[in-house]
Amino acid sequence: TYVVTDACIRCKYMDCVEVCPVDCFYEGENMLVINPSECIDCGVCEPECPAEAILPDTEDGLEKWLELNTVYSAEWPNITTSKEPPADADEFKNVEDKFDKYFS
Ligand code: SF4
Ligand code: F3S
Repeated sequence: TYVVTDACIRCKYMDCVEVCPVDCFYEGENMLVINPSECIDCGVCEPECPAEAILPDTEDGLEKWLELNTVYSAEWPNITTSKEPPADADEFKNVEDKFDKYFS
């Protein structure tokens, strides 16, 4: 599966939702997540994200993000069409460790 990671937080550009063939993105206040049990591993969303937030879970160190995507995709509503990103999205594009600072 692919997962959404820290870089999405407060950027939330939402280009990803438009390309997913199985509509498996879910929307929280500050970020989106992927439902790992619905993702068909097509990889189409990965290059679409301007923040490079989407990664295959085969990369090292992504256990936390796989868990977070699994938990919150079960709680948050499905999103299938993009909306306006936050007005200050670009200011958060290169900020690190956004989970600790802004995920609530
Ligand atoms: Fe959707 Fe494909 Fe991205 Fe999985 S890898 S979330 S199926 S676009
Ligand atoms: Fe987030 Fe990138 Fe999608 S910033 S909302 S994963 S396009």
